[in-house]
Amino acid sequence: MDPKRILTGDRPTGPLHLGHYVGSLQNRLRLQDSHECFFIIADLHTLTTRPEKEHIREAGEYVREIALDYLAVGIDPERSVIFVQSGVPETFELNLILEMLITVPRLERLPSLKDMARDANLEALPFGLLGYPVLQAADILLPRATLVPVGKDNEAHVEVSREIARRFNRLYGEVFPIPEALIGEVPTLVGTDGQAKMSKSLNNAIFLADNSETVEAKVMHMYTDPKRVSADVPGTVEGNPVFAYHDAFNPEKAEVAELKERYRGGKVGDVEVKRKLVQALNQFLAPIRERRAQYDRSTVEELIVEGTRRARREAEETMRLVRDAMGLYRSIG
Ligand code: TRP
Repeated sequence: MDPKRILTGDRPTGPLHLGHYVGSLQNRLRLQDSHECFFIIADLHTLTTRPEKEHIREAGEYVREIALDYLAVGIDPERSVIFVQSGVPETFELNLILEMLITVPRLERLPSLKDMARDANLEALPFGLLGYPVLQAADILLPRATLVPVGKDNEAHVEVSREIARRFNRLYGEVFPIPEALIGEVPTLVGTDGQAKMSKSLNNAIFLADNSETVEAKVMHMYTDPKRVSADVPGTVEGNPVFAYHDAFNPEKAEVAELKERYRGGKVGDVEVKRKLVQALNQFLAPIRERRAQYDRSTVEELIVEGTRRARREAEETMRLVRDAMGLYRSIG
């Protein structure tokens, strides 16, 4: 039987934040014991909207930061593989083969691609951006993953991977397990400004690497119920980002319930609710900060190199199976 295997990861467009944690990192940590895990830092995906040299250099910097974020939250490099996508050339190979197994209209129906083009101020969809989910399928299928823990925003892409895997198996024989998506506990975390999604580009994120003073400053400036001009005005808890964060990160459920009740009754000020959140978040981040401090730059670099080698060995094995199944000419090496 196939081992239970995970592949998931992130594009190196910025450091990871609390939204990544509840959307996907939490699931990755939980599944490390029961699954063989591959964590990809998907630098090739950043080329789909930002192919310029300066952005490639910037992504290179974020590769290290994200690897360190992974290690800091508790990804164990003894058990799990952290690797860089562009270091696995089989990705390019499988990507081309998979491109033949899905149609343009199917990809054009994905709203995420148009959103990405718009966010990057691109007037028309680059050919490669249309292929973004296909490249993601190559990532997932190369280690023959069975489970893909991702945020809600990537669910439709995993569905594309499943369709491609099924089509491949039907045409050429059973090479790939059909990967399943696993969506995080809090599918989408709101931003500190109350916007629907926490995101670096919206400038409304609390990063896993933020120190306690930064967390405090960000929380004290958070958007709350705008109708509440003073502490004695009854407030709304639903959709209020301060309470969304309490729900996601404050383990003291009784304290949160009590705060909500007083908030609804106009019996607590925003400042107290925020102070308690600062405390909860800093407690949550403390062990992450501690682990982060244990890694220096060269250790992180070594772990990435080693992980990329591991991922590549797996990818080579898969490509042998793919070429055999398809009856393609063998690569000579
Ligand atoms: N698309 C993911 C993102 O939004 C990054 C990614 C690339 C990915 N390849 C993947 C996620 C494979 C899961 C599996 O950042």
